Formats: sequence, structure tokens, C-alpha cells
Amino acid sequence: MRVLVVGNGGREHALAWKISQSPRLKRLWIAPGNAGTALEGENVDIASDDIAGIVAFCKKESVDLVVVGPELPLSLGLVDVLAKEKIKAFGPSRAAAQLEASKVTCKLLLRQADVPTAEYQSFRDADSAMRYVKARYPGERDKTPLVVKADGLASGKGVIVCSRREQVLDAIDRMGRKNEFGKAGLPMVIEERLEGQEVSVLAITDGRTILPLPAAQDHKAAYDGDQGPNTGGMGAYSPTPVIDEELLATVEDKILIPSIHTMKRNRKPFRGVLYAGLMLTPTGPKVLEYNVRFGDPECQPILMRLKSDLLDILEATVDGRLDEIDTPIWDPRPSICVVMASAGYPGEYTVGEEITGLEAAANVPDVKVFHAGTSRKDGKVVTTGGRVLGVTALGESLANAKLNAYKGVQAIRWPGAWCRKDISDKASAFVRSNS
Ligand code: AMP
Ligand code: GLY
Repeated sequence: MRVLVVGNGGREHALAWKISQSPRLKRLWIAPGNAGTALEGENVDIASDDIAGIVAFCKKESVDLVVVGPELPLSLGLVDVLAKEKIKAFGPSRAAAQLEASKVTCKLLLRQADVPTAEYQSFRDADSAMRYVKARYPGERDKTPLVVKADGLASGKGVIVCSRREQVLDAIDRMGRKNEFGKAGLPMVIEERLEGQEVSVLAITDGRTILPLPAAQDHKAAYDGDQGPNTGGMGAYSPTPVIDEELLATVEDKILIPSIHTMKRNRKPFRGVLYAGLMLTPTGPKVLEYNVRFGDPECQPILMRLKSDLLDILEATVDGRLDEIDTPIWDPRPSICVVMASAGYPGEYTVGEEITGLEAAANVPDVKVFHAGTSRKDGKVVTTGGRVLGVTALGESLANAKLNAYKGVQAIRWPGAWCRKDISDKASAFVRSNS
């Protein structure tokens, strides 16, 4: 098969790495890719949202399957345009991708499918949103546990979790009046703030059959102890002890199945990866959000454990015959991914620093270094992004996997490089508190 992976992050490196192991693969391209994906296949210089450029490339090279990593090309309709040209593509249609591209669409689907989620209201302007907040929490300035969400895609920055009324009103002001999020800011969703452990359950589906992947946990906050600003994700691990078989079955029955069936009934069948961001509340799991793609960095530890041929799974999904393939085999060992970031991330960060020690890290047993923000320049690998590498490791236990991953991290250097030191510690704390 001739395969094109679209995207340039750690997730796409993991996808390219896994696909490159398939005996059925003939050629692999990554558009635009990074210094790491260039080790698994050939990078082509086409931006991931250049729909016309991607289609032209696929026709020229007779690509058999396109695997779309990020949400933007999905929400722009890349899969629909490719389908018109009879080119197979893994990922949801533009209509189905609205589950991620519009929070209002997502909330309406959850309500229609009777899936547990935070209570919410949506607003078309700041005035009505402010009136609602003041009426709902009269006089309670210090206790206003609400979350304000911009409807559209905002690179993970469009969600403001609040405790006090001033924060809520400020968030409404930024979205509805100051236009900080541009067109994405309105309408806005205001919902109750949920408490609990956050977990990600990803499932591959062809619209009928659902294949849940082992659950993962992400570390979204920048600094140790879940402190500091939100990021795209500073590390992840899988499986997680906070979800057992029984809870995973509940998530499948109460959340995934009704959502996917409702999408089908609405004539917007969902094909691809449905990523449920969940809060495990005292009254059961509730959906915080849906993403329509693999999570980054969750994808890295999940695929590190996959022993089956990923290409078979992706192709069966696109062909609508996921029910015919063998159940995937997973390495029983847990896996963790530690993200190494540039100085300044998630604020303004430096780029262009030379990275050394990649070979030494690759030689640590059971470690794979996935590249995210890197490129090759004059024979050297340099930093180009905020999240630069995802050092991913397997281990006999989560503690061992952690040890291996940080051994890899220690081998790698560039000026200003940093990472969280506590990836997976919340899992160990959970196990301790429940034993
Ligand atoms: P989202 O982009 O919707 O996943 O939101 C980003 C992050 O905001 C989530 O990963 C949660 O940490 C947090 N969040 C979103 N919605 C809520 C909620 N209703 N209650 C508490 N935290 C939330
Ligand atoms: N790690 C969170 C995301 O991919 O959205």
C-alpha cells in the first residue's frame, strides 16, 4: 500500500512509525512531517491544511490510503474531498468533525443521545451570558464554578475553567466583546464545572462497530503537580488504573455507543477515532469534550503498546468492515510518554536550538523518541515548536516505564529544554489511595 500521513506532530510520528512496520506497506509519505517522521518515510512539503495540495499529491502518487492526524484538515473537509476523488482516507467527514470543531454541536449531540455531560447553556452574545451568570449565582462572587468555552477551534485555549464570578465575567468579555478568539469565540458555551479524575477513552469506529482502545491519561497543565497554564499535553500514559474493565464497559455502553448511533441516525456517520475526554465524577463518567482524532500525546503510549498491524485496522475502518478483523493485540506492559518542551512554552518560546543525544536516547531499551516540533537543518536536528519531543517507553510496571522514559530524557540536550518530572505519578497516587 501507498500511504500518506497528514500532520507534523508527535502523534503523526507515532502513526508513521507504526504504519512503517506493516508488511503491506510499499511507500510512506508524511505531509509535512518533522525530523522524526523522515526516519520512518519520506516527508513532503505540503501543509496539513492545504487541501488542494494534498489531493493533487495523492493523485500524482496514486496514494491508496490517507491517514489524517490533526483536526483542522478534518474540519475543512479533507476526507470528503478525497472521497470524491475515490481516495480512501481515515478520519471523519467534515460534518462528523463538527463534534470537535463546534462545542455547541457537541453538546446538542450529547443531549440528543442522552449521554452524561455537564449541564450547559449556549449564548450568542456577551450580554445574555452575563445576565445568566448573575441570575444563576446571585451574590456568590467567590463561588461560581463554571467553565466558559468558545464554540470553535482555538488550539486548546478556548476553554476557561473558573471558580469566581469575576473570572467568568472576564472570560465572557474576552470571547464575546474583545473578540480574543475571533470567530471561534461565539456562540459560547457556559457549563457547570465538574470535579474528578480526567481520562481519555479513544475508540476506533467505522460508524457501526466500535473498537475501544486502552484508556489513557494526559497531563494538560504545564508544571509538576498539575500546576500552571494549560498546554496541549505534557505527557501521557496507558493503561490507567483509574479505569478498570467494568468502568470501560460503562463508558462504551453509556457514552460511545449512544453517541455513535445517534451520529448515524443523524446521517453524519462517524468514521475514524472518537476521543472522549471524560471526567470521572462521583455520579459516573461524564463527557467533557469529544475530539475527532487521536490525542497528542495519548496516541504515542497507546500505539507503543499495539502489537497488531495498524494499517489493517485503519483500512478496515475506512472500508466499513471493522467487524471482520481480529481483535487487536496489546503489549501487556504499560507505556508512558514524557514531552520535552522549548524554553517559554506554553507562552512564547525559543526555536532553532540544536538537539543532541537523540541516538543515545534511542539506545535505551524499550524507549522510542517521537518527534513533534523538530526539523533537519544542515545535517542537524533543531527545535521548531513548543512541544519538541515525546520520549516514550514501555516497562514491566508503570514505575518501570517511567524510569525508562526519564532515562531517555536524560540523554537528550538542547538549551532551555525542560519537561515535567511527574508524568504518571497521579496514577501511582491513585493506586496507593485505593489499596
Ligand atoms: P476541552 O477542550 O473541552 O477538553 O477542555 C480543556 C480542559 O478544560 C479539559 O481537559 C478539562 O481539564 C477542562 N474542562 C473542560 N470542561 C470542564 C468542566 N465542565 N469541568 C471541569 N473542567 C473542565
Ligand atoms: N492531549 C489532548 C488532545 O490531544 O487534545
